[in-house]
Amino acid sequence: MGTVSSSSAPKTGSSAATRKVAAVCFWAWQWIAAGVAAAAGAPSARAPDTIAARVAACDACHDAAGRASAEGYIPRIAGKPAAYLYNQLRHFRDGRRQSPAMTSLVAHQTDAYLREIAAHYAALALPHRPLPASRATPAVLARGRTLALDGDRARGIPACAACHDASLGGVAPDMPGLTGLPRDYINGQLGAWKNGTRRAAAPDCMAEIARALGPEDVAAVSAWLATQPAGPLAAPGPRPAPPLRCGTLAAP
Ligand code: HEC
Ligand code: HEC
Repeated sequence: MGTVSSSSAPKTGSSAATRKVAAVCFWAWQWIAAGVAAAAGAPSARAPDTIAARVAACDACHDAAGRASAEGYIPRIAGKPAAYLYNQLRHFRDGRRQSPAMTSLVAHQTDAYLREIAAHYAALALPHRPLPASRATPAVLARGRTLALDGDRARGIPACAACHDASLGGVAPDMPGLTGLPRDYINGQLGAWKNGTRRAAAPDCMAEIARALGPEDVAAVSAWLATQPAGPLAAPGPRPAPPLRCGTLAAP
């Protein structure tokens, strides 16, 4: 899986975990390719076009419940806001996010098809695995918690909670939660925003925030967020104006 193994990917996490995830993804990919080839050779045996059939290829990496991997790199997709998931599927297709596995799966899909898949995962409950114990020191975790909940005003870093909800669980319909995600994934996304390989619609508030974070801030906030179990989305409703403008969000 190229995102974690390509030379342009942010160098984060332990390389052993990265190799393990890469090997699992490679295996899954071979398996999917074999399944696709078999189906193509035997059209009479092809499954009907149900949502279950559409997402069968996703289960190898994301599992049928859409959970995050216990460690390593696979993000949770269950229970994320539908509009957010839809945007991400389009972003993989349209080159705004780089992940060879994801891109090839969505490359030829229409917006309508991707919207249905997004709605499917958004509606799944949050049956998440227990989180692995953090290896970060208490001081690093405390710094991460401060950044997430209060930010660092002197350096122009807003609190993550100012947009991702006070619970950090995200807000329907388009603000993702930051809880129930593996540390390496969070680390990797902040790195991708810093180096421009993940791009949301302009103004890309997350790119500005990622660039304001130093390497130690990224390590601390990723480590602390990864100790926070997945929580439900907050309902949409009046809330304080975000500290930066984000082009990806529906206008209030
Ligand atoms: C070979 C493994 C693999 C398969 C199969 C796979 N994914 Fe992914 N998926 C990933 C990885 C790895 C990422 C993180 C990519 C990155 O670095 O941004 C990801 C990211 C995502 C995201 C973005 C999540 C977020 O919070 O931003 C969505 C949505 C997603 N996948 C949906 C799907 C769907 C739907 C399918 C089936 C059509 C699928 N994936 C199949 C590995 C896979
Ligand atoms: C001004 C509002 C705002 C603030 C403050 C903010 N974010 Fe975000 N964040 C967003 C938006 C909007 C998205 C969705 C971007 C997209 O559509 O790709 C996002 C997405 C993310 C994602 C991707 C989630 C996933 O599943 O892939 C991560 C990781 C993230 N933010 C981390 C942080 C961290 C860490 C902080 C605090 C240091 C923070 N954010 C502060 C608006 C914000």
